[in-house]
Amino acid sequence: MTTLIAAGRHIIATLAFVVLAMTWQGAMAQQPSSVNPTASAVQEDKLLQQLKTIQGRGSIPDVKSYTIEQPAGRDWRHFHEVTLRWIGAIAIVGILAVLVVFYLVRGMVRLESGRSGTTIVRFNAAERFVHWMTATCFIVLALSGLNVTFGKRLLLPLMSPEAFTAWSEWVKYAHNFLSFPFTLGVVLIFLMWIGGNIPNRADFEWLKRGGGIVGKDHPPAERFNAGQKLIYWIVVLGGAAIAVSGYMLIFPFYGTDIETMQSAAMAHGIIAMLFIAAMLAHIYIGTIGMEGAFEAMGQGTVDTNWAKEHHSLWLEEERRSAGGTRTQPIATPGE
Ligand code: HEM
Repeated sequence: MTTLIAAGRHIIATLAFVVLAMTWQGAMAQQPSSVNPTASAVQEDKLLQQLKTIQGRGSIPDVKSYTIEQPAGRDWRHFHEVTLRWIGAIAIVGILAVLVVFYLVRGMVRLESGRSGTTIVRFNAAERFVHWMTATCFIVLALSGLNVTFGKRLLLPLMSPEAFTAWSEWVKYAHNFLSFPFTLGVVLIFLMWIGGNIPNRADFEWLKRGGGIVGKDHPPAERFNAGQKLIYWIVVLGGAAIAVSGYMLIFPFYGTDIETMQSAAMAHGIIAMLFIAAMLAHIYIGTIGMEGAFEAMGQGTVDTNWAKEHHSLWLEEERRSAGGTRTQPIATPGE
């Protein structure tokens, strides 16, 4: 019996030793004795910084897909999800705040001499058509573009993921397809109004006197004053830049690589935010900012007193050349 107990003890002791030895070995295997993963990660990071990308090998024709890591992609994502949102929020909310304060302080620029009862043609039907076509495309492009930047953050929490997906798909189609009439509109605006938009000495005088917007002065101006010329060049140059960068995105990798695509996306986003801010100011002056201004693009005519107050040099010129190139009567009885 004693021998049996001694043998049992021996077996238990041997088993305990074996279990202990295995546990020890297992624990030791976890220690960085032979491999140092941190050190190798540091080496990989150095390699990545030097090479800019880490490439693998592939068998499909699209060699771009062989890129495994590209830190610039992370920078781009940060720009898209953080930096651009800040730029957009500051530009758009900022300009809206400035306009509200300006309206509360300055109020609407009134027609000081009242209505004359006669009107003068300011924009013919073709000019108005091009303006409204471009403006409509711009508004849809702006809203659909803002959906790319802010939609996930602002709209997704308000609707189901399915509804947000369907909405985003539709507005993305709108963004792609309306880019063509928008580009056409920018080209036509460039050609149609370039004649009246070359800066000259009258613009400096107009600016020096606050343009009649800041104060109560009515400095003389030609068909387009310095403020309108600025808007014209923002539309022409901004429109060209936004179209070029936009088409680089719609038609990826046609003469571009991933870096130029990323730069195009960044340029497109920044220009868009500034463009939207500028157009908000333009819309303000054309509507509640100035009495009688909307009629110019709405009906195509303005009151002659409005023309006298805001574009006196243009009115004189039109009167001198009455019966000249402009086909519609320059002064017709008002309604
Ligand atoms: C010819 C004209 C235009 C073309 C070809 C174009 C094309 C594009 C394309 C392909 C994208 C990428 C969309 C995506 O990532 O799914 C985009 C984004 C965007 N577009 Fe346009 N676009 C044009 C005009 C405009 C205009 C006029 C505006 C606004 C004023 C605008 C605002 C934006 C904005 C805000 C984004 C999102 C930027 C971002 O968050 O990264 N686009 N556009």
